[in-house]
Formats: sequence, C-alpha cells, structure tokens
Amino acid sequence: MKKTILTSLLIAGSLVAGSLTANKRGVAPVSDSFYMKECASCHFAYQPGLLPSRSWEKLMGNLSNHFSTDASLEPADNKIILNYLIKNSAENSTDYKRSKKINDSIPKNETPISLTETKYFIKEHRGIPSRLIEQKEVKSLANCMACHTTADTGSYSERAIKIPNYGKWED
Ligand code: HEC
Ligand code: HEC
Repeated sequence: MKKTILTSLLIAGSLVAGSLTANKRGVAPVSDSFYMKECASCHFAYQPGLLPSRSWEKLMGNLSNHFSTDASLEPADNKIILNYLIKNSAENSTDYKRSKKINDSIPKNETPISLTETKYFIKEHRGIPSRLIEQKEVKSLANCMACHTTADTGSYSERAIKIPNYGKWED
C-alpha cells in the first residue's frame, strides 16, 4: 500500500516536472553581451549549454591556438567569459532538453572542444547529404544559422530548419 502511494507521488511529481520543462526544448539563449562581443566576431555565438564545463575550460585554456587561429584574450577577460560559460554549461542547464542530451552523449572521460563532434550532434546531422553542407551558403556544420533560422534564440526545432537550395527539412 505504502509503495503504491509513493509510486503515484513519484509519477505526479515527474508529470509536474515535465510540464515545467516543456517549453525548454532547445538550449538557453546567450545572455551576455561581453561574450557576444568577444566570441561571436568570427562565428556564431555558440550557446554555453552546447558543451560541458570541462570542454569550455579546455577551449578557454588554449585560445592562442584556437582552431588554427589566435583568439586570445586578456587573462581577466578570459576569466569573466569562462565563468559565464561554466555557469551556463550543458551540465548546469539540464532543464533544457538539448543541453541534457548533449551532456548525456559525451563519455565522462572525453573532453571535446567541438560540439559538432559530440555523439548527439553527429547522430542528429548524419542524414544530411554532404553537398548541402559543403555548398558555399553553408560551408560547414559549425555554421548553425545557415540552416537553423532560429539558432540565435537557442531554438533548434525542426520546424525552423531551412537548408539553402533545399528548403524545409522533412525526415
Ligand atoms: C579570430 C576568430 C575567432 C574568435 C575571436 C573566436 N573563434 Fe571560435 N572558432 C574560430 C574558427 C576558425 C573555428 C573553426 C570552426 C569553423 O568556424 O569552421 C572556431 C570554432 C569554435 C568552436 C567549435 C565549433 C564546432 O565546430 O563545434 C567553439 C565551441 C568556439 N569556436 C568557441 C569560441 C569561443 C568561446 C570564443 C571566445 C572566447 C571564440 N570561439 C572566439 C575562430 C574564432
Ligand atoms: C546543413 C544544415 C545544418 C547546419 C549547418 C546545422 N544543422 Fe542542426 N540540424 C539540421 C537538420 C536537417 C536537423 C534535423 C535532423 C533530423 O531530425 O533528421 C538538425 C537537427 C539539430 C538538432 C536537433 C533538433 C531536434 O529538435 O531534434 C540540434 C540541437 C541541432 N541541429 C543543432 C545544431 C547546431 C548547434 C549547429 C551548429 C553548430 C547546427 N545544428 C548546424 C541541419 C543543420
């Protein structure tokens, strides 16, 4: 009897939790203007919730050799940005569905600095023909906004995907 009550409480609890998180399907949008200024001049402002803290630590620890470019910052500025990234990293925003999925997909002993190389990302994108990725309007999968028209709001919903020279994505 006791067990039944406990089970129903657990079910009710997860239903409430489910409805509270129902609108948090993507990742948290970027909320920091300093991050926008320093980290979105060369590419899309990747949301902190796209990688775990250890990945951001590794990436911010080697900005002078950042994907073959020099993106180094003053130590004080580096620290401010790293703090922001950690506070909002994937494992610290698991109420957002995509952050949770990305985080769960990375083995604990791995520290990727490319979110495009995480298992979850690869799985979600493997059905896209390479000609649609390599074309000049996209160039690489790192160019999120080329296909996800609402990526800047943290929403990667399938409804908002529009691939150049292809159109809406139906799978
Ligand atoms: C000087 C230009 C430049 C600046 C400034 C810069 N980046 Fe990059 N970043 C690059 C290049 C080039 C790549 C390689 C990916 C691409 O765009 O093809 C890259 C890739 C990345 C990736 C991996 C994307 C993937 O493929 O999954 C992350 C994450 C990233 N940058 C974060 C940052 C952060 C955080 C900052 C601010 C501290 C920053 N970048 C500032 C040039 C820059
Ligand atoms: C060439 C176009 C293209 C680019 C560039 C691209 N995506 Fe996608 N993405 C897609 C397509 C198409 C899907 C849907 C795949 C499917 O469900 O079959 C998808 C799915 C996703 C999903 C899962 C959405 C869901 O509701 O299941 C996420 C999250 C995502 N992409 C994030 C990103 C991020 C972050 C970037 C940049 C680092 C990126 N994508 C770059 C085309 C793209």
